[in-house]
Amino acid sequence: MVAEFAVTHMATVIDGNAVAAEIRGGLGEAIDALGDAGVTPGLATVLMSDDPASETYVSMKQHACEEVGINGIHVELAADAPAEELYETIAELNDDPEVNGILVQMPVPDHVDESTVLEAIDPAKDVDGFHPFNVGRLVAGEARFRPCTPHGVLKLLESVGVDTEGKDVVIVGRSQIVGKPLANLLLQKNADGNATVTVCHSRTTDLAAHTRRADIVIAAAGAPELITGDMLTDGVTVIDVGVNRVDADNEKGYELVGDVEFDSAEAKAEYITPVPGGVGPMTIAMLLYNTVLAAGEQHDVRVALP
Ligand code: GUN
Repeated sequence: MVAEFAVTHMATVIDGNAVAAEIRGGLGEAIDALGDAGVTPGLATVLMSDDPASETYVSMKQHACEEVGINGIHVELAADAPAEELYETIAELNDDPEVNGILVQMPVPDHVDESTVLEAIDPAKDVDGFHPFNVGRLVAGEARFRPCTPHGVLKLLESVGVDTEGKDVVIVGRSQIVGKPLANLLLQKNADGNATVTVCHSRTTDLAAHTRRADIVIAAAGAPELITGDMLTDGVTVIDVGVNRVDADNEKGYELVGDVEFDSAEAKAEYITPVPGGVGPMTIAMLLYNTVLAAGEQHDVRVALP
């Protein structure tokens, strides 16, 4: 039977929709417990952009809130509105007791300073985990809010029993949203971490030399199908964070592809995530998770999180 493995080998495709649904189910119980204490968690999303992809992401987040019983509050600002309008909106949401979590969809327009925006959000309501105070806590190994996409990646690995301890993990991409926080989480001396972490990026000289010796490759570079099967070792676990719109001959005129060339990578992998339906649904589930966590902390109600 072992000899047949090489011939019939197919990767297990990790079903992000199923894992996310399970987490949302667990959150439902926590939300009920908060309800018993008279608390309905509230999440405010703020969109200051005309980008159709950002609009889609924010409406998906609002829709997900509604489904699990989180009170969704949405604020939309014109992309060319003065930056002060955004800062004032954040200040109001910081002061609003009905709002437990605040998410300003990134990127913000060029005339708005991203750091000023992130620092304006009350760290206790910073469900993205992007405020410097929360970034510092994460690096120190004391994360309060784990950033949603990195946290979702850890949950996907856990869902298929892929342990990170002692593993060579290669992250491709060094963004503030994914690469950097994920590297820090995987480095932590705990059950979710204990990995040997390499972070590759656009200036890495020989990307394939790194990915080829990795037990786990996490692609988060925003480069369509950058990682191909010949860059991977047999039995690798591949997590594809990329969501890229590429031109396609269909009704929409585009299709979504990841940072990994799925077919060639699947032939090498033991576990692999698809795009869409892999990491994407997890990001939203972990945003809901952080919102429930924030509501519990702000109201001093203990909640069991999934
Ligand atoms: N833009 C892309 N991903 C994210 C995210 O996780 N949070 C926010 N606020 N903006 C994003």
